[in-house]
Amino acid sequence: MSPTRRDFLITSAVAGSAMSLGLNACSNSPRRLKILVLGGTSFVGPHQVRPALARGHEVTLFNRGRTNTDLFPEVEKLVGDRIDDLSALEGREWDVVIDNSATRPSWVRRSAQLLKDSVGIYLFTSTRSVFSDLSNIPMDVDGPVYSIDSWTEEDEGSMHYGLQKATAEKEAIAAFGERALIVRPGLIVGPGDTTDRFTYWPVRVHRGGEVLAPGEPDNPVMFIDVRDMGEWYIHLLEQEYTGTFMALGPDTPLTFQGFLEGVREGVESDATFTWMDTEFLQQQGVRAYSHMPLWMPAVGRNTGFNRFDLTRSWEAGLKYRPLPVTAKDTLDYHFTRPEERQARLRAGITAEREAELFSLWYSRT
Ligand SMILES: NC(=O)c1ccc[n+]([C@@H]2O[C@H](COP(=O)([O-])OP(=O)(O)OC[C@H]3O[C@@H](n4cnc5c(N)ncnc54)[C@H](OP(=O)(O)O)[C@@H]3O)[C@@H](O)[C@H]2O)c1
Repeated sequence: MSPTRRDFLITSAVAGSAMSLGLNACSNSPRRLKILVLGGTSFVGPHQVRPALARGHEVTLFNRGRTNTDLFPEVEKLVGDRIDDLSALEGREWDVVIDNSATRPSWVRRSAQLLKDSVGIYLFTSTRSVFSDLSNIPMDVDGPVYSIDSWTEEDEGSMHYGLQKATAEKEAIAAFGERALIVRPGLIVGPGDTTDRFTYWPVRVHRGGEVLAPGEPDNPVMFIDVRDMGEWYIHLLEQEYTGTFMALGPDTPLTFQGFLEGVREGVESDATFTWMDTEFLQQQGVRAYSHMPLWMPAVGRNTGFNRFDLTRSWEAGLKYRPLPVTAKDTLDYHFTRPEERQARLRAGITAEREAELFSLWYSRT
């Protein structure tokens, strides 16, 4: 029998002081939460704030007041700086905090230490990059992560991203203990993403014709729609989950071929896919993930990169919208951007480079 949320709460040790703050563990319509979002105005934040407001929760944003300042005029906004000014958070109480904006461990140390006695649950947005070994099948959310024996604020800038985030996770846990909620997303995709790593595919497939498809059709792929993640965050907080979770999908294994076909379905295109093998692409200097976004050959230390066991996340309520919907909505978002931005994607290859690769591909032997 699959575990219920209540079993899960018992085994994962529900947040003691969250309960004392009065959160209702058993109700399907929880009381109005006071939610503090550190950040909230760039890519992932707004997709958390919208479902929180839609479900009647009270949201406060804390940031420097620089990014997308026109968003959420109805919401309380506190201005400060995670580097050296958290004074706006002093003397305030919230049920939960969502920390999106931190990579540096010292940022998490400062905010978590300041808030530990006035906030119930600390949700830290971490990353799949914390894993020090991605070679296992399946990958386990409790697998080994990067760690460092000691660090100072002066040297944290020289840590790589995965180590920074893993160290930041520890800071959240050091302050909040069993009231810490760590979410590790893989690639976050969808409307508002400015990295274009997913966006490349709906745009390219929508253009139609013969599309360069990377590597082997059965190579696995995983990602998370930013809206699925944001809605799930609010669910996790309403239901008082704590512990560590992956934010990845989908719920049935997806191959790169299935991925491209799902994108094609969403963007209504006549595209055909021509698969160029990994060896050929590597010989031509085509890099996984950047030149061919989302594509990670499942070999060596990346064998398990797209093979996470997501059972714990599903049991905690993670749901997914269909891939064609994500593809269509991302394309629609892309077409709202200025023309010069549409013409210059930040990931993927240009049409000229793709044509050159086709020419080389067909002229082999
Ligand atoms: N994109 C991915 O595929 C991916 C994958 C895995 C994990 N992640 C994680 O997801 C998170 C991405 O978050 P996001 O940028 O989209 O979050 P967000 O909450 O939407 O926006 C970042 C916020 O941080 C604020 N901020 C930046 N510097 C600040 C400072 N010094 N003091 C106070 N506030 C500051 C910005 O506002 P102001 O500029 O106004 O201060 C902005 O509101 C990161 O933690 C990243 O590691 C991303």
